[in-house]
Amino acid sequence: MGDLAGLFTPMTVNEVLLQNRFVMAPMTRGFAQAGVPSGRSVEYYARRARGGVGLIITEGAAICPGACLVEQGIPAFYGEAALTQWGHIAQAVHQEGGRIMVQLWHTGLLRAMGRTRNDPTLLGPSGHFPVDGGAVAGTAMSQSDIDATIEAYAAAAAAAQRLGFDGVQLHGAHGYLIDQFFWSETNNRTDRYGGDVAERTRFCVEIVQEMRRRVGPFFPIGLRFSQWKLPGNYDIRPMTTASELERFLIPLADSGIDFFDCSTRRYWEPAYPGTDLTLAGWTKKLTSLTTVTVGSVGLSGPLTTGPGGHPSASPDTDFTALIRMFERGDFDLVAIGRALLANPAWPKRVRDGVFGALRAYSLHTKSVLH
Ligand SMILES: Cc1cc2nc3c(=O)[nH]c(=O)nc-3n(C[C@H](O)[C@H](O)[C@H](O)COP(=O)(O)O)c2cc1C
Repeated sequence: MGDLAGLFTPMTVNEVLLQNRFVMAPMTRGFAQAGVPSGRSVEYYARRARGGVGLIITEGAAICPGACLVEQGIPAFYGEAALTQWGHIAQAVHQEGGRIMVQLWHTGLLRAMGRTRNDPTLLGPSGHFPVDGGAVAGTAMSQSDIDATIEAYAAAAAAAQRLGFDGVQLHGAHGYLIDQFFWSETNNRTDRYGGDVAERTRFCVEIVQEMRRRVGPFFPIGLRFSQWKLPGNYDIRPMTTASELERFLIPLADSGIDFFDCSTRRYWEPAYPGTDLTLAGWTKKLTSLTTVTVGSVGLSGPLTTGPGGHPSASPDTDFTALIRMFERGDFDLVAIGRALLANPAWPKRVRDGVFGALRAYSLHTKSVLH
């Protein structure tokens, strides 16, 4: 099963020291009430820090009113009550010796995951998002909408720094707002936020630049991106070649990002024919920045959603491929999602080789475990 020692070595992201290479993947839990993280979220995150994970990336948190369905338990990252509670969460994680970054989220046209099809309050680059042969119809963002949204991201990053977080991650994956700008299907703008694959990064680049201006040079800023999109568009691949991926990544890398979190469902899958390099591997090769891999690490099956969703996945303790790719330098960090829901002490158990104690993940686990 290979030697995991390398994955238990420390590293720094910008100036933040992480104890090891394991990261808690961002996972929406729906625990919040009216946007305020619940009291049990404090212990929920503290337990994962105690369990030995090097870095926690929180569930996605709304950057401003209208960004997410806070009424369905999504936490806000604005307003005094929510921010006070986030401060308690960061403090509790630090008391356990952990590190924590908040995932900043704006769902854009996917606020209701494509279930609401006509709603002018849904904002996106061009006001439409393809879903099941139809489309969500919302509103194309004006320049003042864009300016206000960039300001909201920057204010959230500044709040994270003030509250003692160790950095922020922009949710630019899975078809949400930033990804709607990235994707040609949802971005037909003819102004400076539209155009080719590099030009479509401009919205994100301006967010990063404004955040950087506010938080200074040493506060880590990451970006999560993906080829796949919700709802159900797992197999699309907008960046069809490695050179297209490079045109996408370079402006982002130049904008002041510290790390890329490359969201895939199976960490070992090659991104393009001809080599076994994964999305994380290509991203590392093309940018040299810190790279996170993710997708079914420690589990027998990939994440799926909907009625055919994967109800359970048993522990997988064959880390041979993961170690080979890590030792080859394909990525620096490994995000663990469902395995950490089922096993808050997953990193410690794996480090100590206590594999028999690892529990399977199930949808049941997802709903009841804290
Ligand atoms: C319950 C649940 C909630 C999730 N919520 C988010 C989220 O808020 N933001 C995000 O970027 N990814 C989210 N994801 C995706 C995970 O971060 C991760 O990429 C995915 O689960 C694959 O990792 P795994 O196979 O280790 O679970 C979620 C996954 C799960 C299972």
